[in-house]
Amino acid sequence: MTDDTQFTDEAIEAGRRLFAGRCDFIAGAASIESLPPIGAPEVAFAGRSNVGKSSLVNALTGRTTLARVSSKPGHTRQLNFFDLDGRLELVDLPGYGFAQVSKSLKAGWQDLAAAYLRGRPTLVRVCLLIDSRHGVKESDRETMRNLDKAAVVYQLVLTKIDEVPPSKVGAALDAARAVARQHAAAHPEPLATRSETKAGIPARRAPLAALV
Ligand code: GTP
Ligand code: MG
Repeated sequence: MTDDTQFTDEAIEAGRRLFAGRCDFIAGAASIESLPPIGAPEVAFAGRSNVGKSSLVNALTGRTTLARVSSKPGHTRQLNFFDLDGRLELVDLPGYGFAQVSKSLKAGWQDLAAAYLRGRPTLVRVCLLIDSRHGVKESDRETMRNLDKAAVVYQLVLTKIDEVPPSKVGAALDAARAVARQHAAAHPEPLATRSETKAGIPARRAPLAALV
Protein backbone atom coordinates (compact mmCIF):
# COMPACT_ATOMS: atom_id res chain seq x y z
CA MET A 1 0.00 0.00 0.00
CA THR A 2 2.88 2.36 0.75
CA ASP A 3 5.97 2.81 -1.35
CA ASP A 4 8.69 1.56 0.99
CA THR A 5 10.16 -0.59 -1.75
CA GLN A 6 11.59 2.43 -3.59
CA PHE A 7 14.36 2.80 -0.95
CA THR A 8 17.37 0.57 -0.37
CA ASP A 9 17.97 -1.07 3.02
CA GLU A 10 20.93 1.30 3.51
CA ALA A 11 18.77 4.38 2.92
CA ILE A 12 16.11 3.11 5.33
CA GLU A 13 18.82 2.42 7.94
CA ALA A 14 20.33 5.91 7.50
CA GLY A 15 16.85 7.35 8.10
CA ARG A 16 16.33 5.21 11.18
CA ARG A 17 19.68 6.32 12.63
CA LEU A 18 19.04 10.03 12.02
CA PHE A 19 15.66 9.91 13.75
CA ALA A 20 16.83 7.62 16.58
CA GLY A 21 19.03 10.39 18.01
CA ARG A 22 18.26 13.38 20.19
CA CYS A 23 15.29 15.50 19.15
CA ASP A 24 14.45 18.74 20.92
CA PHE A 25 11.98 21.56 20.50
CA ILE A 26 14.18 24.59 19.94
CA ALA A 27 11.92 27.49 19.07
CA GLY A 28 8.41 28.62 18.34
CA ALA A 29 8.22 31.67 16.09
CA ALA A 30 5.07 33.74 15.81
CA SER A 31 6.68 36.41 13.64
CA ILE A 32 9.36 36.56 11.00
CA GLU A 33 11.56 38.58 13.39
CA SER A 34 11.48 35.79 15.97
CA LEU A 35 12.72 32.99 13.71
CA PRO A 36 15.65 31.16 15.32
CA PRO A 37 19.11 31.91 13.91
CA ILE A 38 20.18 30.03 10.80
CA GLY A 39 21.60 26.64 11.75
CA ALA A 40 21.35 23.12 10.33
CA PRO A 41 19.44 22.41 7.08
CA GLU A 42 15.67 22.64 7.58
CA VAL A 43 12.80 20.46 6.33
CA ALA A 44 9.36 22.06 6.66
CA PHE A 45 5.96 20.38 6.89
CA ALA A 46 3.31 22.39 5.08
CA GLY A 47 -0.29 21.81 4.08
CA ARG A 48 -3.92 22.57 4.82
CA SER A 49 -5.11 22.79 8.43
CA ASN A 50 -5.74 19.36 9.97
CA VAL A 51 -3.97 17.44 7.20
CA GLY A 52 -1.65 15.81 9.76
CA LYS A 53 1.57 17.89 9.75
CA SER A 54 2.17 17.77 13.51
CA SER A 55 1.22 14.08 13.59
CA LEU A 56 3.79 13.32 10.91
CA VAL A 57 6.52 15.18 12.84
CA ASN A 58 5.66 13.02 15.87
CA ALA A 59 5.57 9.79 13.85
CA LEU A 60 8.93 10.54 12.20
CA THR A 61 10.60 11.28 15.52
CA GLY A 62 8.87 8.37 17.29
CA ARG A 63 7.44 10.77 19.90
CA THR A 64 3.78 11.18 20.71
CA THR A 65 3.72 14.63 22.24
CA LEU A 66 6.63 16.51 20.68
CA ALA A 67 4.40 18.46 18.29
CA ARG A 68 0.89 19.19 19.54
CA VAL A 69 -1.88 17.50 17.60
CA SER A 70 -5.58 18.29 17.65
CA SER A 71 -8.70 17.08 15.90
CA LYS A 72 -9.67 20.76 15.53
CA PRO A 73 -8.16 22.51 12.48
CA GLY A 74 -5.99 25.55 13.09
CA HIS A 75 -4.14 24.10 16.06
CA THR A 76 -0.54 24.98 15.20
CA ARG A 77 -0.32 28.78 15.20
CA GLN A 78 3.38 29.40 15.01
CA LEU A 79 6.42 27.91 13.30
CA ASN A 80 7.77 25.19 15.59
CA PHE A 81 11.41 24.18 15.15
CA PHE A 82 12.75 20.78 16.28
CA ASP A 83 16.44 19.96 16.24
CA LEU A 84 17.58 16.44 15.30
CA ASP A 85 21.00 15.99 16.89
CA GLY A 86 22.25 19.26 15.38
CA ARG A 87 22.09 17.66 11.91
CA LEU A 88 18.64 18.59 10.63
CA GLU A 89 15.79 20.81 11.80
CA LEU A 90 12.14 19.90 11.33
CA VAL A 91 9.75 22.84 11.04
CA ASP A 92 6.06 22.25 11.79
CA LEU A 93 4.11 25.03 10.06
CA PRO A 94 0.64 26.39 10.74
CA GLY A 95 -1.84 25.13 8.17
CA TYR A 96 -3.78 27.05 5.58
CA GLY A 97 -7.41 26.43 4.67
CA PHE A 98 -10.28 26.17 7.03
CA ALA A 99 -9.29 27.21 10.57
CA GLN A 100 -12.29 28.54 12.47
CA VAL A 101 -10.67 31.73 13.66
CA SER A 102 -10.83 35.35 12.61
CA LYS A 103 -9.65 36.13 9.12
CA SER A 104 -6.98 38.53 10.33
CA LEU A 105 -5.46 36.00 12.75
CA LYS A 106 -5.50 33.32 10.09
CA ALA A 107 -3.96 35.62 7.51
CA GLY A 108 -1.24 36.36 10.07
CA TRP A 109 -0.03 32.74 10.33
CA GLN A 110 -0.49 32.09 6.67
CA ASP A 111 1.56 35.13 5.71
CA LEU A 112 4.20 34.05 8.21
CA ALA A 113 4.37 30.50 6.83
CA ALA A 114 4.47 31.83 3.25
CA ALA A 115 7.23 34.32 4.09
CA TYR A 116 9.25 31.57 5.74
CA LEU A 117 8.81 29.24 2.74
CA ARG A 118 9.88 32.00 0.34
CA GLY A 119 12.89 33.32 2.08
CA ARG A 120 14.60 30.89 4.46
CA PRO A 121 18.13 30.26 3.17
CA THR A 122 18.57 26.96 5.06
CA LEU A 123 15.25 25.46 3.91
CA VAL A 124 16.30 22.43 1.84
CA ARG A 125 13.03 20.54 1.44
CA VAL A 126 9.30 20.90 2.01
CA CYS A 127 6.98 17.99 2.66
CA LEU A 128 3.65 19.24 1.31
CA LEU A 129 0.96 17.16 2.96
CA ILE A 130 -2.25 16.34 1.12
CA ASP A 131 -5.23 14.59 2.71
CA SER A 132 -5.69 11.48 0.59
CA ARG A 133 -9.46 11.75 0.94
CA HIS A 134 -9.53 15.22 -0.61
CA GLY A 135 -6.61 15.34 -3.03
CA VAL A 136 -4.78 18.50 -4.14
CA LYS A 137 -6.90 21.63 -3.58
CA GLU A 138 -6.53 25.13 -5.06
CA SER A 139 -4.83 26.35 -1.85
CA ASP A 140 -2.25 23.55 -2.27
CA ARG A 141 -1.67 24.57 -5.88
CA GLU A 142 -1.07 28.13 -4.74
CA THR A 143 1.55 26.89 -2.27
CA MET A 144 3.09 24.79 -5.03
CA ARG A 145 3.32 27.80 -7.35
CA ASN A 146 4.98 29.83 -4.58
CA LEU A 147 7.51 27.08 -3.91
CA ASP A 148 8.21 26.77 -7.65
CA LYS A 149 8.91 30.53 -7.73
CA ALA A 150 11.17 30.32 -4.68
CA ALA A 151 12.90 27.24 -6.20
CA VAL A 152 12.39 25.24 -2.99
CA VAL A 153 12.16 21.51 -3.71
CA TYR A 154 9.08 19.84 -2.28
CA GLN A 155 7.44 16.45 -2.24
CA LEU A 156 3.74 15.70 -1.95
CA VAL A 157 2.93 13.37 0.96
CA LEU A 158 -0.54 11.85 1.04
CA THR A 159 -1.76 11.53 4.63
CA LYS A 160 -4.50 9.52 6.34
CA ILE A 161 -4.36 6.70 3.81
CA ASP A 162 -6.14 4.57 6.42
CA GLU A 163 -9.20 6.73 5.73
CA VAL A 164 -9.53 5.70 2.08
CA PRO A 165 -10.33 2.18 0.87
CA PRO A 166 -7.07 0.34 0.04
CA SER A 167 -8.27 -0.03 -3.54
CA LYS A 168 -8.33 3.79 -3.92
CA VAL A 169 -4.84 4.59 -2.60
CA GLY A 170 -3.28 3.90 -6.03
CA ALA A 171 -5.68 6.32 -7.73
CA ALA A 172 -4.97 9.00 -5.09
CA LEU A 173 -1.23 8.59 -5.70
CA ASP A 174 -1.76 8.74 -9.49
CA ALA A 175 -3.75 11.98 -9.17
CA ALA A 176 -1.08 13.56 -6.94
CA ARG A 177 1.65 12.42 -9.32
CA ALA A 178 -0.13 14.05 -12.27
CA VAL A 179 -0.25 17.37 -10.38
CA ALA A 180 3.36 17.11 -9.19
CA ARG A 181 4.55 16.61 -12.75
CA GLN A 182 3.09 19.99 -13.75
CA HIS A 183 5.32 21.78 -11.21
CA ALA A 184 8.96 22.63 -11.70
CA ALA A 185 10.16 22.24 -8.11
CA ALA A 186 7.99 19.25 -7.16
CA HIS A 187 9.54 15.83 -6.71
CA PRO A 188 7.87 13.68 -9.38
CA GLU A 189 6.89 10.86 -6.98
CA PRO A 190 4.35 11.49 -4.22
CA LEU A 191 4.57 9.47 -1.00
CA ALA A 192 1.88 8.08 1.30
CA THR A 193 1.67 7.76 5.09
CA ARG A 194 -0.49 6.74 7.95
CA SER A 195 0.91 8.46 11.02
CA GLU A 196 -0.89 6.45 13.66
CA THR A 197 0.29 2.99 12.67
CA LYS A 198 3.61 4.30 11.35
CA ALA A 199 2.91 2.73 7.95
CA GLY A 200 5.25 4.38 5.46
CA ILE A 201 7.22 6.13 8.22
CA PRO A 202 10.62 4.37 7.72
CA ALA A 203 10.40 5.32 4.06
CA ARG A 204 9.60 8.96 4.97
CA ARG A 205 12.79 9.16 7.02
CA ALA A 206 15.05 7.83 4.28
CA PRO A 207 14.93 10.80 1.85
CA LEU A 208 15.33 13.23 4.77
CA ALA A 209 18.51 11.48 5.91
CA ALA A 210 19.85 11.96 2.40
CA LEU A 211 19.65 15.76 2.95
CA VAL A 212 22.15 15.89 5.84
P1 GTP B 1 -2.98 22.24 12.08
O1 GTP B 1 -1.88 22.39 13.06
O2 GTP B 1 -4.30 22.63 12.63
O3 GTP B 1 -2.71 22.86 10.76
O4 GTP B 1 -3.17 20.63 11.79
P2 GTP B 1 -2.06 19.54 11.45
O5 GTP B 1 -1.88 19.47 9.98
O6 GTP B 1 -0.84 19.72 12.26
O7 GTP B 1 -2.83 18.19 11.87
P3 GTP B 1 -2.63 17.31 13.19
O8 GTP B 1 -1.35 16.57 13.11
O9 GTP B 1 -2.89 18.14 14.39
O10 GTP B 1 -3.76 16.21 12.99
C1 GTP B 1 -5.12 16.59 12.77
C2 GTP B 1 -6.01 15.38 13.05
O11 GTP B 1 -5.77 14.35 12.09
C3 GTP B 1 -5.77 14.74 14.41
O12 GTP B 1 -7.03 14.36 14.95
C4 GTP B 1 -4.93 13.52 14.09
O13 GTP B 1 -5.07 12.47 15.04
C5 GTP B 1 -5.47 13.11 12.73
N1 GTP B 1 -4.49 12.37 11.91
C6 GTP B 1 -3.20 12.71 11.64
N2 GTP B 1 -2.60 11.78 10.87
C7 GTP B 1 -3.51 10.82 10.65
C8 GTP B 1 -3.49 9.57 9.92
O14 GTP B 1 -2.50 9.16 9.32
N3 GTP B 1 -4.66 8.87 9.91
C9 GTP B 1 -5.78 9.29 10.55
N4 GTP B 1 -6.89 8.54 10.47
N5 GTP B 1 -5.84 10.44 11.25
C10 GTP B 1 -4.71 11.19 11.31
MG1 MG C 1 -0.28 21.20 13.51
